[in-house]
Amino acid sequence: MNRLFAAPIAMLATLTLVVVLLWVVQKSIEFYQNVKAVGNHPGNRTILWHNHLLAHFLPPIRGLTSGTNYVFNKKYAVYEQTGWDIVTCISSFPAPRVEFLIADAAIIKDVTVAHVSFPKPVFLYRALSIFGSNIVASEGHTWKKYRKISAPAFSDRNHRLVWEESLNTTRDLINTIWKGKDVVEIDRVDDITLQIALNVIGVAGFGRKMPWQADTVVPPGHTMAFHDAMRLVSTGIILRITVTRWIMGLIPKWVKVRAAFDELELYMLEMIRNRRTTAKKEERYDLFSNLLDANDDELLVEGEAKLTDQELLGNIFVFLLAGHETTAHTLAFTFALLGLYPDQQEILYRHIKSIIPNGRNPTFEEMPLFTHSIAVLYEALRLFPSVPPIPKISAEDTVFVSTNKAGERKTIPVPQGAMITIDVAGLHYNPRYWKDPEVFNPSRFLGDWPREAFVPFSQGARACIGRKFSETESVAVLTMLISKYKITVKEKPGETFKERKERVLKTRASLTLMPVHMPLVFSRRE
Ligand SMILES: *[C@@H]1O[C@H](CO)[C@@H](O)[C@H](O)[C@H]1NC(C)=O
Ligand SMILES: *[C@@H]1O[C@H](CO)[C@@H](O)[C@H](O)[C@H]1NC(C)=O
Repeated sequence: MNRLFAAPIAMLATLTLVVVLLWVVQKSIEFYQNVKAVGNHPGNRTILWHNHLLAHFLPPIRGLTSGTNYVFNKKYAVYEQTGWDIVTCISSFPAPRVEFLIADAAIIKDVTVAHVSFPKPVFLYRALSIFGSNIVASEGHTWKKYRKISAPAFSDRNHRLVWEESLNTTRDLINTIWKGKDVVEIDRVDDITLQIALNVIGVAGFGRKMPWQADTVVPPGHTMAFHDAMRLVSTGIILRITVTRWIMGLIPKWVKVRAAFDELELYMLEMIRNRRTTAKKEERYDLFSNLLDANDDELLVEGEAKLTDQELLGNIFVFLLAGHETTAHTLAFTFALLGLYPDQQEILYRHIKSIIPNGRNPTFEEMPLFTHSIAVLYEALRLFPSVPPIPKISAEDTVFVSTNKAGERKTIPVPQGAMITIDVAGLHYNPRYWKDPEVFNPSRFLGDWPREAFVPFSQGARACIGRKFSETESVAVLTMLISKYKITVKEKPGETFKERKERVLKTRASLTLMPVHMPLVFSRRE
């Protein structure tokens, strides 16, 4: 190499090394300060935050990252190892982070009740605001405003609609897709449950009947039918929030997804306009109509802000998103569990038969009678909560008080800005509240059960507003399907029960917890 350049290059290399070293030293100091800030309370110390996108592509490497799907996969293990129902995760990339994982029901209750002291880290929810600000991705006054307008939309009349459409769409599945066949093999059961949930939200969310089979009528001014836009939006959401608009324009399949988002927005704006310009002709109880009615209510106190069209879109979109995937996956896990445990399925079937012996449809009024259907769903939700980690943030310096396995009581310092993660999976598998937590035992939800240790819909003021909507849909679909079909798992020769269970119940962490591959067989009863 030319001698003339050797010196500057060496200098540059030294300089780079010094900068890198300084950066490492600074990161290390921050890291140890954070360890000190939590009183060195036990837990994981890793370089990469376990919830960072990058961590999803790496296996667990001690000291580097805790692995994909960490919060769900570890279940209660980290609490078992440390002896505490609250642990700390300290990490330094992408930013220095202090996080508390909590599986202690009393502390979780305090955190959800004091929702002003422990707000949502809104930045984690930004992706949900594609169409506008909304009830899930907001805090403070804005959230209050959305909550006030949205809460009445989830009315009894709306739930009745949910019930009816859940039965109708299940009936249509059996008659027109399965054509009443005696045995139906489904390679991926979530294909079916996602479509059911989409059809229900179509009617009960938007007042639009969604067909099982695509039809091709595209109204003037549009490039795709409403239900096609809905379908593409619901499956393309992860793509839409991770890839920027213009990059989506490069791949034909993605162009279509992008167009679906534009189309859905157009449809929703049209629905708002139609509502405003046509005189009220019929009573409608879908969420969107309810939301528009509440927003146009003349009794809304002067100065009390109404929602803008953008906020209306933001909220209805988040109902679509939050309501559809979670319910669908819960039903999928429920079907798979019943397929794995025929005895439990038989108990459920007998109970359903005892209420509707002649095979007629269950009515909305009868919903509370289907206690076994509810118990089975709750047990599936306990084992597979849709949202395993619920994130909060500490708005101020505070403390948590907890007791460990050995009975030792401790006050743990919580610095301002720390992430507070309600570890739903940790709580649901906590043997302090649940006997044999790994066992699928729906009957634990029949008698008295620890309500504070079951938070699949979170709790307190920020609890899921669509809980009743989702439960109504799940009970109706489950009850109707089990009354007509027996579910079994598609077996692989030579497989043990344990292997089969692991194969069928394998999960993936997406926006919500989802099954990986659930092949099931539905056989007609009688
Ligand atoms: C996380 O912590 C638990 C218990 O402290 C430990 O067993 C596990 O190996 C840790 N994981 C990593 C990736 O460091
Ligand atoms: C369900 O189907 C029945 C009978 O076909 C119909 O009368 C009713 O309007 C449908 N309900 C909904 C919510 O679509």
